[in-house]
Amino acid sequence: MRERLLHIAFQLPRILKYKLLSSNRRVDGKPILNSPCLMSGLGEIKIAKNVSLGVKSSPFFYNTYIYLEARSLNAKIKIEEGVFINNNASIIADHKTIHIKKNTLIGFNCSIIDSDFHSLNPSERTNGTQKTASVVIEENVFIGNNVTILKGVTIGENAVVANGAIVTKDVSTNTVVGGVPARVIKQINEANYKS
Ligand SMILES: CC(C)(COP(=O)(O)OP(=O)(O)OC[C@H]1O[C@@H](n2cnc3c(N)ncnc32)[C@H](O)[C@@H]1OP(=O)(O)O)[C@@H](O)C(=O)NCCC(=O)NCCS
Repeated sequence: MRERLLHIAFQLPRILKYKLLSSNRRVDGKPILNSPCLMSGLGEIKIAKNVSLGVKSSPFFYNTYIYLEARSLNAKIKIEEGVFINNNASIIADHKTIHIKKNTLIGFNCSIIDSDFHSLNPSERTNGTQKTASVVIEENVFIGNNVTILKGVTIGENAVVANGAIVTKDVSTNTVVGGVPARVIKQINEANYKS
């Protein structure tokens, strides 16, 4: 009862506020909103059932929000069933697609982007064309806290991205990567985890 009252008093108003502030008109689906989520941009945001945004027993729960932006008309964010995204995540698709497949877990303070947003060419930093490429996170991936995933990356099924990594290149199936930039730490042998 106390928990419920605290949720109504402190978290629900924040969730409603960020719903009102959300300007994206192409959202398809209703995530389970444990914490606020701001959805913006002109592109599509497609969220399957049983997608959970925010975790109470984690940092940033009461003072941050999850940010989903499909910036341009062509941009897409697709999140499949059973995905959990912890607090303070930012997922920004600029011109391509960010696709997070089933049952993937994403730790707190993570960022996934499909673009550099600014050109490397100094004279075109604010008005040139920047590199952009789709990101795919396959099924059942575990992404630790404070991870950044950059443009063009595909992360294979069952892979693990260690806490604090910056992922710049594809990660193979059943592989643990970590560090900056992320390198292979080890392989996951599924047979070792079967009871
Ligand atoms: C990836 C992870 C699961 C590996 O755990 P593990 O299997 O116990 O691995 P170990 O601690 O034995 O480490 C294996 C190697 O990886 C290295 N390593 C572990 N975590 C690392 C990290 N975050 N970044 C870089 N290297 C890392 C270790 O130093 C070790 O290197 P060595 O073989 O040269 O000594 C764990 O380190 C991790 O990052 N967990 C995620 C925690 C998290 O953020 N959870 C989210 C909660 S919502």
